[in-house]
Amino acid sequence: MKYINKYDVNISKIGLGTGRFGTRIDEEKSFEMLDLFIAGGGNLLDTARNYYEWVENGRGVSEKTIGKWIASRKIRNKVYISTKGGVRNQGKNFIINLEKSNLVDEFKESQDALMSKTIDFYLLHRDEPQRPVGEIMETLQIICEQGNVRGLGVCNWSPERIVSANLYANKHGYRPLTLIQTWWSIAAYTETMWNDSTTTHMDKDTYDYILKNNLVCMAYTSQAKGFFQKAIAEGLENLDNFLKHRIATEVNVRRLNYIKEYCEENSLSPTAVVNGYITSNEIDGIALVSCSSINQLNDILENCDSDIDSEFINYIDRIN
Ligand SMILES: NC(=O)c1ccc[n+]([C@@H]2O[C@H](COP(=O)([O-])OP(=O)(O)OC[C@H]3O[C@@H](n4cnc5c(N)ncnc54)[C@H](OP(=O)(O)O)[C@@H]3O)[C@@H](O)[C@H]2O)c1
Repeated sequence: MKYINKYDVNISKIGLGTGRFGTRIDEEKSFEMLDLFIAGGGNLLDTARNYYEWVENGRGVSEKTIGKWIASRKIRNKVYISTKGGVRNQGKNFIINLEKSNLVDEFKESQDALMSKTIDFYLLHRDEPQRPVGEIMETLQIICEQGNVRGLGVCNWSPERIVSANLYANKHGYRPLTLIQTWWSIAAYTETMWNDSTTTHMDKDTYDYILKNNLVCMAYTSQAKGFFQKAIAEGLENLDNFLKHRIATEVNVRRLNYIKEYCEENSLSPTAVVNGYITSNEIDGIALVSCSSINQLNDILENCDSDIDSEFINYIDRIN
């Protein structure tokens, strides 16, 4: 496992997405995956207050499952939790609310569910662009006083808003945003991939800002939903409709062919290359992954140490 040494700790460069834990993946299997992840050197768990709120009684269940697992294994000091607030779901609709009282309440709910005063990394799940960044940064400082927060961050914020928020923090001597969560993977982004205008993906301005300011990027959908691994193992024609329609663009098929060649030449597995694109990147990248089976998690953990050369990364980025 590779680690980032920041916030006075070593954080694993693979972060386990736990959204389905306790709902789509039952508690027993969730615990099994969590045990396996820790045994494989992982220590970062990613969740959110609103994960699986879109299934009946799903809100907060992922956090609760993590809290129960930590209590049963007594390993709070060996894991880092990243959770997020500011969003509720009504069916498929996202209701974004970054108002102070709402965020403060949600933070407390997260602490209760996780059974932990410490929330290692606290992020806002979406942006509410009409709300002044100053107001939001004021609220985040209050949140830091309510619990031990190692790092603050945002998901799905434009680079302009991140810059403004950090200028405000700097001016007032406040804790800045140091974690950026966005869609980022070895696949080229396509609008049809997410179909959600409230999300962002890695772009040049965001990348340059992260690099220049030595921030951490938590990449979500970092494996492009398994597109490359599955296409190499099973063939493009056998992919499911989601992957075929949302990810198998001409550009991504060209990337696929190059990745396949690189894997063969360097005796690397597709998983090593897909996640290595993030974990060997020039910026401090964390690949947030999720798995629907123990086999997938084993594959990720067995292939998490490879170094991918910058020449390959630069070449892939130019396939557009
Ligand atoms: N902040 C945000 O707005 C945001 C948004 C999205 C996600 N996230 C976070 O990021 C985490 C990861 O996102 P994600 O689930 O989209 O990531 P992902 O790892 O790109 O996609 C997960 C899917 O990839 C497939 N897969 C996983 N490992 C595989 C392997 N070794 N070989 C082949 N296929 C494999 C599985 O698909 P099948 O189940 O079909 O086999 C799995 O369900 C989430 O759990 C969440 O914590 C954050």
